[in-house]
Amino acid sequence: MANLVVVGTQWGDEGKGKFVDILSEQAHTIVRFQGGHNAGHTIKVSNTTYKLSLLPSGIIRSDKTAVIGNGVVLDPWELLKEVRLIESMGVKISPERLIIADNIPLILPYHRELDQDREKEAGNNKIGTTGRGIGPAYEDKVGRRAIRTGDLKNEEHLRARLKIALKHHNKLRAYPVQEDWLFEHIMDIAKDVIQYIGPVWQYLHDAMTGNKDILFEGAQGSMLDVDWGTYPYVTSSNTLAGMASIGTGVPHNKIPNVLGITKAYTTRVGEGPMETELFDEVGEHLATVGKEKGTVTGRGRRCGWFDAPLVKKTCMLNGVTGIALTKIDVLDELGTIKIYNGEGYEEHEGWLSSTFGITQYDDLPELAKKYISRIEELVGVEIVLISTGPDREETITLKDPFK
Ligand code: IMP
Ligand code: MG
Repeated sequence: MANLVVVGTQWGDEGKGKFVDILSEQAHTIVRFQGGHNAGHTIKVSNTTYKLSLLPSGIIRSDKTAVIGNGVVLDPWELLKEVRLIESMGVKISPERLIIADNIPLILPYHRELDQDREKEAGNNKIGTTGRGIGPAYEDKVGRRAIRTGDLKNEEHLRARLKIALKHHNKLRAYPVQEDWLFEHIMDIAKDVIQYIGPVWQYLHDAMTGNKDILFEGAQGSMLDVDWGTYPYVTSSNTLAGMASIGTGVPHNKIPNVLGITKAYTTRVGEGPMETELFDEVGEHLATVGKEKGTVTGRGRRCGWFDAPLVKKTCMLNGVTGIALTKIDVLDELGTIKIYNGEGYEEHEGWLSSTFGITQYDDLPELAKKYISRIEELVGVEIVLISTGPDREETITLKDPFK
């Protein structure tokens, strides 16, 4: 068994999309297990750039099955929009290769409205959410009033569930949601969504019985985990590797490999603490060279030096078995590079030459190797992959993360 879960060890945007794409070649099935269309995964294949928010990255390989597990919250309109977009780029998507669980809580229009209204009213206390209704949808899941994918199959049942949900939501709103309108609005797309619904947990167990490898695709980052992140400046799901089990129905002892995607410096979007944030021209340099702009919201990302104790902790929480270090090339032009080691900043001499596109470890400048080794030493986990550019090929492979 070589199942693998890929997670971000910082605040998201570490470059998970690229590695999930590369590693999906070795997997039979690729599964999303938490989050929703707040995620933004950019995948560059030759001259085509795919931007995915909800669909598992494996969807762009026509010989793979993509699965959305119950740990996700799903906006059905966004799902269909993304399916159509990816199809328009020449990728065929059918119910044979996209399977969504029947127990996924739906994101409905009132979730998005509530999310955005709250952020508007919060002033200085805002979280900086993506405004996509993620938080309110998870609240409804725990509050036992969510409408789930399986509810779409039975009109009478859907009606009954909507009544319960609206009794709650209409109290929170300036104007009520009309049940009949919402029912019709949902029925407009129900059939298109139902075609993809299948017994995900059973499918995954069958795949494992057939010795097929499953790749679990995390979204966001460990520091956005609702329990372990910088609460309350977090997302509303568990983003850690353990969620791959609960969010899909594959038991935790069947997922032995954990790849932690780690950026060679630090970024975060939205509000909340960030120990190593830079407010000077070096921060701006990282933002510009690293193209640090949110895939989903287009917001600029806050940039700073590498925070070693933070990544050490998240690697422990996730049980990371190997690190993929990304965007090392973004540091190429810096004369001095700093690392926060818990007690203070260490200064490292920059290599001042291009690492862009390097595919062999030996071709890296000595000072870059030194920086990478120091990160490995401080974090205490082996670096198995190094990314030197956005493309599949721009990668140094030191070890197969599936083994
Ligand atoms: P929400 O997930 O929309 O509720 O947003 C909560 C926090 O998580 C905000 O700070 C967002 O910027 C952040 N966030 C959510 N999804 C992502 C992501 O995919 N990458 C980076 N930050 C994210
Ligand atoms: Mg992203």
